[in-house]
Amino acid sequence: MDGRWAGARKSGWVARREEVTITALPQPSVPDSLRGEGCSRRPPLDKLLFMELGREADTVSLESKIGRCKLRISMIGCGYVGLVTGTCLAEAGHQVLCTDNDAERIAALKAGVVPIYEPHLDAMLAANCRSQNLSFTRNAAEAVRAADAIFICVGTPPLENGEADLSAIDNVARLVASEALTSKLVVEKSTVPAQTGQQLKRVLGLYRRHGAVQLRVASNPEFLREGTAVQDFLHPDRIVLGVEEEETEKQLREIYRPILERRFRCPVHLGACPPAKSPDLLITTMNSAELIKHASNSFLAMKISYANMIADLCEKVGADIKEVTRAMGLDPRIGPRFLDAGLGFGGFCLPKDIQAFIRLAERCGVDFTMLKEAERVNKRRVDLLLEKIRKALWVIKGKRVGILGLAFKANTDDIRFAPSLEVIRALLAEGAQVRAYDQEAMDKTSAIFPQIHYCRDPYEAAQDVDALLILTEWEEFRQLDWERISDLMLRPMIIDGRNLLDPAAMMERGFEYHCFGRPIENQTAPKAIIHAPEVFLAGAHVPSAPSTEIVT
Ligand code: UGA
Repeated sequence: MDGRWAGARKSGWVARREEVTITALPQPSVPDSLRGEGCSRRPPLDKLLFMELGREADTVSLESKIGRCKLRISMIGCGYVGLVTGTCLAEAGHQVLCTDNDAERIAALKAGVVPIYEPHLDAMLAANCRSQNLSFTRNAAEAVRAADAIFICVGTPPLENGEADLSAIDNVARLVASEALTSKLVVEKSTVPAQTGQQLKRVLGLYRRHGAVQLRVASNPEFLREGTAVQDFLHPDRIVLGVEEEETEKQLREIYRPILERRFRCPVHLGACPPAKSPDLLITTMNSAELIKHASNSFLAMKISYANMIADLCEKVGADIKEVTRAMGLDPRIGPRFLDAGLGFGGFCLPKDIQAFIRLAERCGVDFTMLKEAERVNKRRVDLLLEKIRKALWVIKGKRVGILGLAFKANTDDIRFAPSLEVIRALLAEGAQVRAYDQEAMDKTSAIFPQIHYCRDPYEAAQDVDALLILTEWEEFRQLDWERISDLMLRPMIIDGRNLLDPAAMMERGFEYHCFGRPIENQTAPKAIIHAPEVFLAGAHVPSAPSTEIVT
């Protein structure tokens, strides 16, 4: 099974679309009719999007909503970053052409199949292809020549020593230098170590074929989270522009103007975005912009590892990590997010970025032991979960274990560096029989572990198992019929690697329940709780109230 098309298949459409050959990019043309062609099963997605927004599309409102600051932009790389950035910039009214060296991927995108699962992306992509603001080509040279601004969105995977592999960036730089016939802005969007922009400038200069062509470079790091990437792009907290010339700053401001002024159709809030302050626009040097990205991801990683250490301490002293982090998070200097303890961080960003940052520090002679420690703490999380499983099951060999959640986090089908993979590997090595369920990530996991049983729903995953593990914080898992699950299991035992469930409620339902940093053995009904927002009370949440007195 090829997992890459799972999201597209789930979304239930494969639209036919004429291939657009881009030699000179067409000027905006707003369709005079939104009647669909080529999709017999449901209305065209652009129409659907408008229907979701609560109105029929009409060309006049579309034009006025989008505004007229249209720039020609090319995305090199159609992974998560390139696809989300390209589609959102097209939605913002620019003329976007995306290319990738994966021919299959481009063919699929041309056919309307989005190869990743990312909420709202497929509808937006279809709508913008239809309005011809967005198109795809295999011909990277064409994409270079057609654009005023070229966004580099290629992968920077980790090398064996942990450093970022910048060979794809280097390839793009040489391609741009040799193919550009007119002046271009080259925007570094991929996550790269500080000083990469300077190298990029050097390579562009060295390989430039046409002397009169000016190739300016900027760093514009992305802060998109998988699963909420469209929302993050359209409603960012901040936009960082690392620039060296005024002209570059002006051009980038123009590119982001529709986002700053909120002139786009928002698929997340269906046209009724809540009032919010404009994102901060930060103009920095290129080195700072690059460092901001790595420093942010590494800080988030450290925050998670810190919460995980506190969770371990909670287990020892009989405290509750949820109570501790909730109170900590009320301090605005700390903030409530990224303090969820459990299995630790996975995915393709935090683990690789922390490593690349450590290597950068080493190369620069800066002792960043703190970061190494955060990484070490994270690596230990899976071992701790396995220790809990061993303690609860005694012998793993011959036991049946059900797994809920395979993706590295909720709302994505991404399993790269997902803790679930290490857990499965260890369980299989120790002779357990594994069955698993995840609403999006099973296709991808089955390519790695074809030998485990993939289930239609969480209940099938619980059938006749000795233990049920929760490894991803999918919202669906909070809402399960736990009585039914208990009846299905050989032994009603849950090991909650994401602290998703309420220990008291689970124990009341008769489960043996294990999680991270919560006092399970001595769990009794909590003491009185007074006017606390979302305070834990015997399985229920007390509604928010203005006072914040918490009795723990
Ligand atoms: C991360 C950053 O959050 C984004 O700002 C950044 O743009 C992105 O990397 C990137 O570099 O492209 P992402 O990898 O999508 O985004 O995922 P996160 O939401 O950061 O979660 C990372 C991991 O940490 C997940 O495995 C999640 O389960 C775990 N996590 C998160 C915790 O264990 N505890 C928490 O409190 C929060």
